[in-house]
Amino acid sequence: MSNYHIKHLEEYYQVYRKSVREPENFWEEIAEEHFLWRKKWDTVLEWDFTKPEVKWFKGAKLNITENCIDRHLLTRGDKTAILFEPNNPDEPSNPITYKELHSHVCKMANVLKDQGVKKGDRVCVYLPMIPELVYTVLACARIGAVHSVVFAGFSANALATRITDCDSKIVITSDGSYRGSKTIDLKGIVDEALRISKGVETVLVAKRISSEIEMLQNRDQWLQPLLDKASAQCEPEIMDAEDPLFILYTSGSTGQPKGMLHTTAGYMVYAAYTFKNVFNYIENDVFWCSADVGWITGHSYIIYGPLCNGATSILFEGVPSHPSYSRFWEIVEKHRVNQFYTAPTAIRALAKEGVGHIEGHDLSSLKVLGTVGEPINEEAWHWYDDNIGKNKAPIVDTWFQTENGGIMITPIPYVTPTKPTYATLPFIGIQPALMDENGKEIEGNQVSGRLCIKFPWPSIARSIWGNHQRYKDTYFSEFKNMYFTGDGALRDEVGYYRITGRVDDIIIVSGHNLGTAPIEDAINEHPAVAESAIVGFPHDIKGNALYGYVTLKETGEGRNHDNLRKEINQMITDQIGPIAKLDKIQFTKGLPKTRSGKIMRRILRKIAHKDSSNLGDISTLLNPECVEDIIENAL
Ligand code: WTA
Repeated sequence: MSNYHIKHLEEYYQVYRKSVREPENFWEEIAEEHFLWRKKWDTVLEWDFTKPEVKWFKGAKLNITENCIDRHLLTRGDKTAILFEPNNPDEPSNPITYKELHSHVCKMANVLKDQGVKKGDRVCVYLPMIPELVYTVLACARIGAVHSVVFAGFSANALATRITDCDSKIVITSDGSYRGSKTIDLKGIVDEALRISKGVETVLVAKRISSEIEMLQNRDQWLQPLLDKASAQCEPEIMDAEDPLFILYTSGSTGQPKGMLHTTAGYMVYAAYTFKNVFNYIENDVFWCSADVGWITGHSYIIYGPLCNGATSILFEGVPSHPSYSRFWEIVEKHRVNQFYTAPTAIRALAKEGVGHIEGHDLSSLKVLGTVGEPINEEAWHWYDDNIGKNKAPIVDTWFQTENGGIMITPIPYVTPTKPTYATLPFIGIQPALMDENGKEIEGNQVSGRLCIKFPWPSIARSIWGNHQRYKDTYFSEFKNMYFTGDGALRDEVGYYRITGRVDDIIIVSGHNLGTAPIEDAINEHPAVAESAIVGFPHDIKGNALYGYVTLKETGEGRNHDNLRKEINQMITDQIGPIAKLDKIQFTKGLPKTRSGKIMRRILRKIAHKDSSNLGDISTLLNPECVEDIIENAL
């Protein structure tokens, strides 16, 4: 018997050791006993980080939707698979059983086929958190198409970039979306994106807000009439283990977003196995991950991980503050939620409102609390522990990345003793290493360095769509034979890891990864701007916020600064989305540069952190005089 569910610390260490000593035997046992295969693999693992190339379960045949849906039909057909909780609490919740999910997914799969979508085609999904989103994702997997979900908060430009990059011929969207008390014109954003990105032939539109929208003849179609006509049976396409399952974009520190490519079998095994253990999932638990399906957390822990385990997974359309800050707790109480998984930024926003919004809500069903996406500060950790978990539900501070597919460093609840702000121990099969600047591994405890992973795990991304060289350069070039995460970490006296944050030019704002270069590019397009530099600074709720230093061209010098600030933020909103707006914009006479012309962000970062007392030696700068001016006018 494989160790599918780890129950105590000794067992963790024993299983962990096995997963490191005999990774192939270990993962073969897990794969063999807990999943449905049309054909078993020829080899468990082939890998070479220098190329880089990783293949898990090569030669195996399967369809992930048979694992997520069909195999549950006999034993769990009437059990709720997806529990849809609408934005408006007066609209009834909608429990979708495994049987119903099967029929919806098959219908959607048949609609996609009728529209000409074939195995290997990319399908762009730009939908709010409504059931059609889950159906579409799984329908793609059913027919072997590659889904590319774009978070529905991204702008038309950002959407266009992603459509063009993976060459989607079809977009699935809705007439609009609800977000708290607001509605958003999603279809309008798609229309605008498709004026920039020209290759899309078909747009299917789900009805959500019943707004008047324009439908372009020969391109746009309402989804519902097509679904009504479609058959509720669709044989799954039999896929190779290493066939692409999805592309999901993440910010790069420079240039275009990176389309991380995930493949089928390894991703499935790892998403399902982590779900089971990291959340101590037991049959009939009700699981709630509040992330958006537009992020990796939603892919792995709203859809694939829970459904592979036959779980009930909540899909929440709304926001924590609508109609009041009690919303999360109303949902926990209403559905007797057992595991609740959210981001530190949401916890901080709720903590700021006090505890009144929790009072009167029965949270006694909660047995595991999770956080993900950014470091959690000690205060927020304790607030969550005291007020939500009542010191009884362990907190799993889970670290992972879009590139990783599933949770990598985390406590196992009721197994690993927790420690605030520490993601604690590597999950089974994960071999972390801390590296120094010279590329040497730092051994022992009470050390810090750059976080790398030494050995492949099943759900590692296989490439960047259309740019394998960039994949190699970004993740496998800095340290020999290692995957480099881009994060810094420390290891304490007992071997627990604490993630300290990014060591590159990516800034995490409210849990969203933002590259500084694309934001600077957007600002620099403003006709009055000569150049700009973005750094992060600490923010009570968002974790980090963005601070922009902007130098104007001579022609822009007389302009009103407040108007310019508005225009700059509007340009960022148009290019990327409102999540990338700057909190502070300081106009500067110049930006500090090295003699070779590189902007010295280190200095700008210190000034933004209000720590300009110790800037080090600035006399070697090309233009040291500008620093004084920047300090004097700092915001
Ligand atoms: C950060 C999100 C500290 C980290 C699943 C990583 C975290 C980036 C944690 C990936 C955590 C994620 N503690 N930092 N528990 N989880 N991060 O790709 O910097 O959106 O590299 O995936 O988020 O963000 P991504």
